[in-house]
Amino acid sequence: MTQPANALFASAGGAAGVHNIVEAFYRRVEADPILRPVYPEDLGPGKAKLELFLVQWLGGPPDYSQKYGHPRLRMRHFPFVIAEVHAGRWLRHMREAWRECGVPEDVQAVVFERFGTLAHHMVNDKDDVPRTPLEDARLT
Ligand code: HEM
Repeated sequence: MTQPANALFASAGGAAGVHNIVEAFYRRVEADPILRPVYPEDLGPGKAKLELFLVQWLGGPPDYSQKYGHPRLRMRHFPFVIAEVHAGRWLRHMREAWRECGVPEDVQAVVFERFGTLAHHMVNDKDDVPRTPLEDARLT
C-alpha cells in the first residue's frame, strides 16, 4: 500500500513534534564546542527556518518555500564553512533529538537514510564557493 505524502510528518508528531525535535537538536548544537562556532551568534532565526523546512520536507505544509522560495540547501550553506566532522556531529545530534522525542525507530530509519546523504552533500570546506551571507533571500 502506498503511504500518504504526509505520512512522515504525521509519524514525527506533526507541527508540535517537529518543533520539539528542532528544540532538542538546537540544545545539542548549543552545547557542542565543535559545531556551535559554525552557527551565528543568534541561533533564533536559523532555528525557526529549520523548523519550517523540516515540516515541509516531511510532507507537511510548504510554508518554508512560500516564505523563502526554493530550499537550495547546499547553496544556502555556502556562507558557513562545513567540514565532514560537522556533518557527523549534525547527524548525531539530530538522531538523538528524534530519539528523545520518541519517534519510532522504523520511521527514523527512513528519515535518516535521507538525512545522511543530505548532510554529506552540505560539506563545503574544501570548495571555492561564495561565502557572502544569503540571510532571508528568496531563491528560485
Ligand atoms: C552537515 C552539517 C550541517 C551544518 C554544520 C549546518 C549548519 C547550518 C548553519 C550554520 C545554518 C545557518 C543558521 C542561521 O542562519 O542561523 C544552517 C541553516 C539551515 N540548515 Fe543546516 N547544516 C547542516 C546540515 C543540514 C541538513 C542536512 C539540512 C536539511 C536536512 C539542513 C537544513 C538547514 C536549513 C533549512 C537551514 C535554514 C536555511 C535558510 O533558509 O537560510 N542543514 N545550517
